[in-house]
Formats: sequence, structure tokens, C-alpha cells
Amino acid sequence: MSYPIAVIPGDGIGPEVIREAVKVLEAAASRAGFKMDFQYYDFGGERYLRTGETLPDSAISELRNFKAILLGAIGHPDVKPGILERGILLKLRFELDQYINLRPVKLYPGVETPLKNKTSKDIDFVVVRENTEGLYVGAGGFLKKGTPEEVAIQESINTRRGVERCVRFAFDFCRQRDKKKKLTLCGKTNVLTYAHDLWERVFYEVAKEYPDIETSYAHVDAICMWFVKNPEWFDVVVTDNMFGDIITDLGAIIQGGMGIAAGGNINPQGVSMFEPIGGSAPKYAGKNEINPLAAILAAQMMLDFIGEKQAADWIEKAVIKVTSEKLKSLAAGEMGYSTTEVGDMVARFTQEVG
Ligand code: IPM
Ligand code: MN
Repeated sequence: MSYPIAVIPGDGIGPEVIREAVKVLEAAASRAGFKMDFQYYDFGGERYLRTGETLPDSAISELRNFKAILLGAIGHPDVKPGILERGILLKLRFELDQYINLRPVKLYPGVETPLKNKTSKDIDFVVVRENTEGLYVGAGGFLKKGTPEEVAIQESINTRRGVERCVRFAFDFCRQRDKKKKLTLCGKTNVLTYAHDLWERVFYEVAKEYPDIETSYAHVDAICMWFVKNPEWFDVVVTDNMFGDIITDLGAIIQGGMGIAAGGNINPQGVSMFEPIGGSAPKYAGKNEINPLAAILAAQMMLDFIGEKQAADWIEKAVIKVTSEKLKSLAAGEMGYSTTEVGDMVARFTQEVG
């Protein structure tokens, strides 16, 4: 069995962390007895600066043929914000219809959280972020741009179909996860009286089909408080694209920071893409100091998603061994090990753990 996997290392620290993730994947695959056939693509800032091209349309159709995609980071200090994000990352999410952005918030043993008196038992939830609609579609425009009367409009697009498939995924995921069996809708129904009225109606309608799942609702501003004060209340949280973007950065920091936060852009019927959520961190590029655990955990999510559960489980156990027994800190340059050494340790433990 050999899985065709597309790899887009991307910009900044992307290539360094992806190298370690691939190393760990190889270790897991050889132990579990399957193969992965990696095909590399150089999309990113460097290529854009050289050729003016972000993501050619031919790439999208090629990428459809892979089992999954592993992405490092997109973002370059010499490219104006928005070009690479829209031209590569969001284009991939949209064109491949990866309508779920799945972001686990899990505090691993040995990892320090900025939340006082909270431990691994308190911080273990997953955010299901809608990933193809809302404010991210780019609907809107300018009127009288550059004049004192300028108007800028940015519209949030929420479709019945788009909201429903996201909400259904969240209910199914919550059931399969089989932990607290509690799904929280995060919105702003008191102000976004059209968009989030739709979300709320769909949520409670679909909920009727899942009597085993407890439902709750929280406004997005309030959820920012609860994530900090009572993270143990949460199991699965479902929300729109923009709010999901914001609350998952909060989630990332309470689980120990960008060094460990991973996510999956999921199309349950198509090709999904897994990425560390931290970005390209150009100031650390090439220093062999950045933490590769987020990329390694993105790879771990990828294996879990393609059905290699045993291999995924070994990687997670190996990561836990490294966070609880080895690393001094998750921060770049403060781990007590280089990027390569952390990858080596996780790869070795992946082959050893029970
Ligand atoms: C993320 C990032 C992206 C987003 C940016 C880079 C476009 O912040 O994956 O959360 O806003 O979705
Ligand atoms: Mn973000």
C-alpha cells in the first residue's frame, strides 16, 4: 500500500518543519508497514517573486489526485499581505472545497499553558471552523476608493448548504470523538441577526437528529472569556470562518503556542490538507531552532484522517514522550534541542512506543 501525498513546504520555516514531519511519517509508515509517495511542490513566496505565479490552475487539478496534502507555511516578508494568502492558501481551501478547518486544542503533558491552575485534563477540545464561506469569500468592494467619501464593503456569505454541512460534520465528529459529547455553537446572534440567525436555526434543527449530543451556545466574545477561565467546559465547538480564525489563535496559545498547534482543512469527500497553523515565522527561517511539533502533529492528523490510526497513535505517543520528558520549552530557540533533534527524537520514539 502506497499513499500519494503532495507536500508543499512553502515559505520561511515551512521547509524545516516539513522535513521533520516527513521524517516522522517515514518512521511511522515503516513500522506500520505502509508506504508514502511524496511529491513536492514549490508554491510560495519565493516562487511568486521569481515568476509572478501563485498557484496555477493546473496545480489544483493535479492536487486532486493525491490522498492528502501536507502544507508547511505560506507568507513572505517581501510580498504584500493578501497575495499569497488569497492566491495560495485560501485558493487551495476553496477550490478543493475543504469546508472544515479542524483545530484540536489539546494541552499535552509537560507543556506549559499560560492559564493558571489548568492541566492536560482541563484543556482538550476541538474547534470545527467553517472554511469556505463567511467573510473569507471576498465578496464586497470599494466605492469612491481613495476619496474622502470612500466606502469599503466586506460581506459575510453564509449559505444554508454551507452552514448545514459544517454543522453536520461537527455533530458527527462530536459523536465519534465520544468524550463529553457536547457541541457548542459559537456565534453572535445578538448582533449578526441574519447570518447567525441562519447558523442558530440550522444548528438546533440538525441537533434533533443527534439526541445523544448535548448542545450549547456561546457568543464569540463570551467564549474568549470561557476558553481562558473554564476551558474544561468545552468538547467540540462549531463556528463560522472568521470567528473560527480568531478563537483558534486563542486556543493555540492556551495549548502551549504555535509550536504545537496543528489543523486539518478537510473535505470529507475529497482531498484534505494538513498544516501547522503558525505561519512562516521568517525571523527563524534557516536557523534550525523552530519547533517542528506542530508540523509533526499535522502529519499525525493526516494519518489519522486517511485511516492509519495505529501509526497516528504512535506519533502522538512519541510527541507526548518528547513534551513530557525532553523539551525545556516549546518556544523557538528555547527547546534545549534543535529542530532536527526534536524530529529525530519523535521519529525514534514513534518506532519504540507501545
Ligand atoms: C489561518 C491563517 C489564515 C486564515 C490566513 C493566513 C489567511 O490565519 O489558517 O488561521 O485566516 O485562515
Ligand atoms: Mn488564523
